[in-house]
Amino acid sequence: MKLLTLPKLDYEYSDLEPVIPKRIMELHHSVHHAGYVKGANSALETLAKARSGEMEINVKAVMKDLSFNLNGHLLHEIFWKVMKKPVNENTPEAKIKEALEKNFGSIPAFMKEFADAAKSVEGSGWAALMVNADGDMVITQIEKHNLMSIVGYRCILCIDVWEHAYYLGYENRRGEYVDKFWQIVNWENVEKLLMQK
Ligand SMILES: [Fe+2]
Repeated sequence: MKLLTLPKLDYEYSDLEPVIPKRIMELHHSVHHAGYVKGANSALETLAKARSGEMEINVKAVMKDLSFNLNGHLLHEIFWKVMKKPVNENTPEAKIKEALEKNFGSIPAFMKEFADAAKSVEGSGWAALMVNADGDMVITQIEKHNLMSIVGYRCILCIDVWEHAYYLGYENRRGEYVDKFWQIVNWENVEKLLMQK
């Protein structure tokens, strides 16, 4: 059975400063994300053992674990990819810009809807930009890592709004963190994710 691994980042933990402090990145990647990898692997191994008759399991509980941890792992993988060193004038590349304008009317309209979604997630979760096979886009809130998901759409940009993603730098000011996120969006990689079929 293929097990999941914690991906290496394309940048240093300190590279996203001052938007995201080094210590947040360190804990977020090496502790929190690593925990989801471990949790997903444990659920996958438990299911494999049940399949081969090695053990009896509480399927509902294991599948709940799998959904939470596997989505947690996958969302973090995307999250790390769609960030880069901060820049002041950070504008989307041509193809992603065109797609966002087509779907949301304008870049500011997209940014407002995405930021409003991120700021208003109830409890822990994410805001995500999702696209389907026809290129239709929606912004969705994801509670925890796995609730309110939309079938048939894939995520090409997301922001983690669990407290572990910002509290050490922003305390309870989630809005400030969300507004600064635009400085570190790696639009080149968002566009790459858009073009992947
Ligand atoms: Fe996270």
